[in-house]
Amino acid sequence: MENSGHQLRCTGCARVIEQRELKEDFRCAECGDLYEVVYPSWSAGMAEIRKPNASALRWLWKERCCSNAEADQSGVWRFREMLHILRDEANIVSLREGNTPLYQLRRVAESTGIEQLFAKHQGMNPTGSFKDTGMTAALSVAHELGFDWVACASTGNTSAAMAAYAARAGMRSLVLIPEGKIAWGKLSQAMDYGALTLQLRTDFDGCVRVLSEVVKRAPVYLLNSVNPYRLEGQKTPALEIAEAFDWDVPDHLIVPGGNLANSSALGKAFLEMKHLGLVTKLPKISVIQAEGANPLYLSLSESGGERLQPVAAQTRASAIRIGNPASWKKAVRVIQQTGGYCEQVSEAEIALAKAEIGAEGIGCEPASAVTLAGLKKLLQQGKVQPSQQVVLLLTGHTLKDSDYTIAYHRGDLLTADEIEGLRPEIEITRRNAVELDASVDEVLKELERAAVR
Ligand code: F0G
Repeated sequence: MENSGHQLRCTGCARVIEQRELKEDFRCAECGDLYEVVYPSWSAGMAEIRKPNASALRWLWKERCCSNAEADQSGVWRFREMLHILRDEANIVSLREGNTPLYQLRRVAESTGIEQLFAKHQGMNPTGSFKDTGMTAALSVAHELGFDWVACASTGNTSAAMAAYAARAGMRSLVLIPEGKIAWGKLSQAMDYGALTLQLRTDFDGCVRVLSEVVKRAPVYLLNSVNPYRLEGQKTPALEIAEAFDWDVPDHLIVPGGNLANSSALGKAFLEMKHLGLVTKLPKISVIQAEGANPLYLSLSESGGERLQPVAAQTRASAIRIGNPASWKKAVRVIQQTGGYCEQVSEAEIALAKAEIGAEGIGCEPASAVTLAGLKKLLQQGKVQPSQQVVLLLTGHTLKDSDYTIAYHRGDLLTADEIEGLRPEIEITRRNAVELDASVDEVLKELERAAVR
């Protein structure tokens, strides 16, 4: 098929273009804003000539779970009617991403005072983060367009995902990361998968600035989330959530906010599902940021999301240490269209929430834990009711940043000032490793001590 059936619409000036007209930096030539993928045959605001049948789609997507075909086994590509971005399915580069578990968090629900709490664990993807769902989509496009090199600036997870998918496709990858500011697990992945890894003496926002110039001067395909195809893949967890709730969506979905592509993608998915009649209502989508990396929170509280002032970002949740988020306008729209909220949480609140998710046998990386910390605040403020169904989107695997976890349990992570106010809760969750002589009695003594704790 010559045409894959999609176009691109500028989210600023609404100009619609073809794929071949996209610039290297994916910004609109007229107004500089970002594009979103639209489907002329069914997207809202387009001609709507062949809107697909919702029941048939639901059946088809479920049916594909029993197929042995590579595209059907992917939790992204089994929903391919919603991401018609390739001319030829043979160009799909997949690691069997998606189809991630939805866990019920019973103990956390009880202690938080909510009846039904779930975690959609995107850390259970092949490279350990939600980025795989977007990467299979955008890297397949790069492969189809014939690029040899792909590139991204990253706080670690995008680079790990990009390096893995590029390697699968036999392509080369260029990673720009802020020196000393990403978790070791993620850095090791980029190396393991064979990327050219450059650690720049700057922060994530600085890496983005450098890369946006590099892509104009070298034939490399940009895979940061300004690339609208990334967001098409990142829509699919929303489809999985709707499917898991029998197409009756939960009341609330809570997502961490960094560069703000993920909240945008999930919002796009739910809006599209409603437009197609796959669901009848929308969940509220709320975005949670770390207090030290809170430009969206400030934008919404100070100007109702009209303007965003970049901040010098600082948080130990290094994945979301981002001061100038690219997709902030898209995220503002999603929060407003779904009736969600934006909150900020402290370093101690993040660390405690992460320990609580860990103690449930699930675990996640620090950036993911902002969702639980944010839920507690939304409950206190009466923005979430205890009777509502809430889904936390956990974005990364606990092994991504084990240094953080070990420091927390050793008591080395937080300063005395940061802990103030949460000390008893934090002390109860700490489980430091105990060093002993190789003695049966010593082990039994520890066992007794732990039993009464
Ligand atoms: N959680 C994790 C684990 C992340 O890695 C990121 C972003 C986010 C949340 C925030 O998602 O940017 O879509 O709002 N990580 C990027 C990276 C920036 O380079 O890996 P977002």
